[in-house]
Amino acid sequence: MGKIKNKHIYLLGFMGSGKSTLGRKLANTLKMPFLDTDVLVEVKVGMSVTTIFEKLGEQRFRELEFEVLAELARDHENSKVVALGGGTPVLEKAWPLLQSSGTTIYLQRTAEQLYDHVRHSDHRPVLKRAERKDLLQHVQNLLLERSPFYSRADHTFVCGDEWGIDETIEHLLRLVEENHENN
Ligand code: S3P
Repeated sequence: MGKIKNKHIYLLGFMGSGKSTLGRKLANTLKMPFLDTDVLVEVKVGMSVTTIFEKLGEQRFRELEFEVLAELARDHENSKVVALGGGTPVLEKAWPLLQSSGTTIYLQRTAEQLYDHVRHSDHRPVLKRAERKDLLQHVQNLLLERSPFYSRADHTFVCGDEWGIDETIEHLLRLVEENHENN
C-alpha cells in the first residue's frame, strides 16, 4: 500500500498487547502527540473505566469509546499516535472511521504472551469476568473471537516474545516509516 499522509497511527489489539506503552514511545520518537482512547473516555465522564462498567454498564462504555473515536477521527489533519481500547475494533461502525482517518496497526501477540501481561491486572473489567484459574482460557476464547476484527488492520505487527521494549520500538518504527508519511 502507498504511504498515507497526515493521518493518525492507530494501534489496536488485545488487552496487554502494549498499545499504550509502545504507542507513547513511538509518538515520542516520531515527535507526534499520543492519545489513549480509554483515557479520553475517563476524562469525558470523570470516572475510571472500571467505574463506568460498574455504574453505567458496558453498553454505555462502548458508546463512549465510539464517541471519542469519532471526535478523534474528525481531527485527522493533526496526526497523532492513538492507542485504542481492546474492544474498539469489535465495533463494526468504528471501521469506516479508522480506515478514513488513519493507518491501523494490529499489535499481535499469542494468548500466552497476553495472559502473562494481564494476569496481575486489576483495572480491566472484561477480565474480571473469569476466575483467576480460568483466565488463560478466557483470554484464549476472547482472542479467538476478536482476531477476525483485529486482522482487518492495514498492518499486522507480530511482537517477538524475546524482544525488549527498545527492540520492539525499532521494528515498529521501521514498519511505520515504510508505510506512513507524516508530513
Ligand atoms: C477493553 C479493553 C480496555 C478498556 C476496557 C475494555 C476490552 O482497554 O477499553 O476495559 O474490551 O478489551 P485496553 O486494551 O487498553 O486494556
